[in-house]
Amino acid sequence: MKAAVLKAFGAPLTVETLPDPEPGTGDLVVDVVAARVLSYAGEAFSGRRRYQLDLPAVPGVGAIGRVRAVGPDATRLAPGDWVLCDPTVRSRDDALTPDIVLQGWTARGEGGLRLQRHFRHGPFAQRMLIPTENAEPLGPIDPADAGRWSAIGDLLVPYGGLLAAGFMAGETLLVSGATGHFGSAAVAVALAMGAGCVVAPGRNTQVLEDLTRRFGPRVRTVQLTGAEDADRERMKQAAAGPIDCVLDLLPPLADATPVRAAAMTVREFGRVVLMGGVGGTGGDDLRLPYPWLMRNSVTVRGQWMYPPEARARLIALVRAGLIDLNGFEITEFGLDEANDAVAHAATHGGPFRTTVIRP
Ligand SMILES: NC(=O)c1ccc[n+]([C@@H]2O[C@H](COP(=O)([O-])OP(=O)(O)OC[C@H]3O[C@@H](n4cnc5c(N)ncnc54)[C@H](OP(=O)(O)O)[C@@H]3O)[C@@H](O)[C@H]2O)c1
Repeated sequence: MKAAVLKAFGAPLTVETLPDPEPGTGDLVVDVVAARVLSYAGEAFSGRRRYQLDLPAVPGVGAIGRVRAVGPDATRLAPGDWVLCDPTVRSRDDALTPDIVLQGWTARGEGGLRLQRHFRHGPFAQRMLIPTENAEPLGPIDPADAGRWSAIGDLLVPYGGLLAAGFMAGETLLVSGATGHFGSAAVAVALAMGAGCVVAPGRNTQVLEDLTRRFGPRVRTVQLTGAEDADRERMKQAAAGPIDCVLDLLPPLADATPVRAAAMTVREFGRVVLMGGVGGTGGDDLRLPYPWLMRNSVTVRGQWMYPPEARARLIALVRAGLIDLNGFEITEFGLDEANDAVAHAATHGGPFRTTVIRP
């Protein structure tokens, strides 16, 4: 099979012929049809993001594909089935605290690196070996729409945060980073889940206007100024009532100040979920005041990705018409153009834009 290979951090991808993967027990092999390219793929491949990926590796993070071959223990999936390939691979020998690897992308800790020895290669290839439980059936789709369906991978990230918060219909959510790629996806998912109001702060007026145009009056945008206390008050004022939940998805480029401004808008007994990259490449830590947390009984939690059951539920939200994948602008590249795809993704990130490699 053909694959785009990352041999060293900082080197371009090279397209090579690799042996076809064979499924063992617990695995299956997928023909990759569409693999999304994140805007910060180039940053990850340069080494700047300090991701843990043993090289050489076929990179990428999640895909849409068709099952090619299943292992002996598969009971439902069959060759030809369309599936979402979830990159979140969990070790199977510790149900309570599994090691986690994002296949083709990064790993958490020593155990993650060990798991990565088997599930290392990602979807920038014609075929990919994945754990059987990471293939989520999509049902029939138009092959031409495979790139569009890959946007599910972006929507799943904030959905994981909203599930972690126990977000409920009718509640008010504030999305810190709402004008970003994953933040705007959070706005879409929260509305699909029945949010009463979504507060969407940001600095980019054009993107804020686009959010209002797309989603209407349940979204309340706020122009940020960078002054922490003033911004916090403006965000609180914009909400229809107390803010039940805050979801942060700011990138490492941002410092802790806008995160703190957003987090501290939450009401007493509210929930704050941290999913962004702030502090991941250095810089100040998020300092939330102990007395504020304690007196207001605020819950703060981090969330990496989403639980496996989130996939079927999110696909159901799309199938029900509550999330419209037609709202995404999709740009597609062939595998031979993998480096062009990475460069394109870097300059065409942001809301509702997805770059895809179709191997
Ligand atoms: N936890 C997880 O499972 C998970 C999964 C995937 C990704 N992530 C993380 O999600 C993060 C966001 O990724 P992304 O692709 O959505 O990023 P992105 O599109 O680049 O996000 C940009 C957003 O950050 C805002 N921003 C940037 N610098 C800022 C600053 N100094 N002050 C205030 N706002 C600032 C931008 O606002 P303006 O419009 O005002 O410029 C925009 O809303 C990444 O760090 C990624 O690692 C986490």
